[in-house]
Amino acid sequence: ELKVAVIGGGSSYTPELVEGFIRHYHELPIKELYLVDIEAGSGKLAIVGALAKRMIAKAGLPIDVHLTLDRREALRGADFVSTQLRVGLLDARALDERIPAAYGLIGQETTGAGGFAKALRTIPVILDICRDIRELSPDAFLLNFTNPAGIVTEAVLKYGGVKTIGLCNLPIGTRMQIAGLFEVEVSRVDVEIVGINHLNWTTRVAVDGTDVTQALLSKAAGAGGLTMKNIPDFGWDSEFLHSLGALPCSYHRYYYLTEQMLEHQNEQLKEGTTRADVVKRVEAELFELYKDPQLSVKPPQLEQRGGAYYSEVAVSLMTSIHNDRKDIQTVNIRNNGAIPCLPDDACVEMNAVIDASGARPVQPRTPIGPQIRGLLQVVKAYEELTVEAAVHGDYGMALQALTIHPLVGSADKAKQVLDDILKEHAGYLPQF
Ligand code: G6P
Ligand code: MN
Repeated sequence: ELKVAVIGGGSSYTPELVEGFIRHYHELPIKELYLVDIEAGSGKLAIVGALAKRMIAKAGLPIDVHLTLDRREALRGADFVSTQLRVGLLDARALDERIPAAYGLIGQETTGAGGFAKALRTIPVILDICRDIRELSPDAFLLNFTNPAGIVTEAVLKYGGVKTIGLCNLPIGTRMQIAGLFEVEVSRVDVEIVGINHLNWTTRVAVDGTDVTQALLSKAAGAGGLTMKNIPDFGWDSEFLHSLGALPCSYHRYYYLTEQMLEHQNEQLKEGTTRADVVKRVEAELFELYKDPQLSVKPPQLEQRGGAYYSEVAVSLMTSIHNDRKDIQTVNIRNNGAIPCLPDDACVEMNAVIDASGARPVQPRTPIGPQIRGLLQVVKAYEELTVEAAVHGDYGMALQALTIHPLVGSADKAKQVLDDILKEHAGYLPQF
């Protein structure tokens, strides 16, 4: 009798998740599916919840879908809790994209000062959810999709007191893109991924068990399509890739191609748009479709969003835990020494064996060279400071976090951006 609670159930992504639950019902027989939202999201919950019910009815499956604003009812006795919430909704995201941009910095939902602001707003809410889980479903796994997923998961690992695994669709997207480059089925491709969320490197690739990493780097140089829908498709230089010795992730463009990305950002801003504005339009269109009582499948328009295949990730993980499968998936977990240059209690994104007890990191085969170590350590240090700032409302830690972030890089700018963030988001920052 599996019970799943989805916090932020009114999200436009919910049909993606429900499609996954339907497709994998034979190995993950969910009895109760609770879609939870807050008052402000209740209109969306009603619409997307009705679609979820139609999808399940069409599939003829005995999954009971409950729509509720009562989080505690949803959490009571749950086996899996997944979080896909956005504190402050898309208006807050637009601010996260605009505030840093006003200082000539990258303004991005999860990376740099924008991601920092999102972490400050989100961590208190997630820790509040953890309090409820400890009381109402202490054995549940919290599968966190909420961004910035790596930082939020680190906060839960350190302060939440619940079993948790952080998730992102980027690793599976990378594996699919690599399969595309080699023109083979995804199932034939193994990837070794190391790093942290939205800053991971593919350090080794095998097709049918044969190491093809060098061939990958040659194929990837200059290639298009190695990105997600929300990040511009700028190609990688061949010399750069070969001397790095690994394939960077899509978000690395913010670090390695900062000027090009800033130019792109400025063009968008001149036209008056940020990614949040684009997503608002896509969402409005999606919710119009979702309202159609004839619709009982996930509409293809959802693929315009950056989170494509996210249900694949969530459902694969739940399935492997439920069936004690012991397969390998790329997830966000406690380091425990697997990446020796990072603290044991840091949250890292890497391959792990998934079984009934959760996820255990697989020791990477490829050593981490200084090219990777340098950036990885500094961004992880930024993340540690951000967790402390968010949990304790500590201005000094917040200032240090932003100052060392490579996309901020100076104490005076960091202070100005921080003060703007604290002022503009004051209503969502009770800890400060
Ligand atoms: C990628 C990331 C997600 C992020 C999404 C944004 O898929 O992995 O963490 O939420 O992009 O997509 P959006 O359509 O909201 O810009
Ligand atoms: Mn992600």
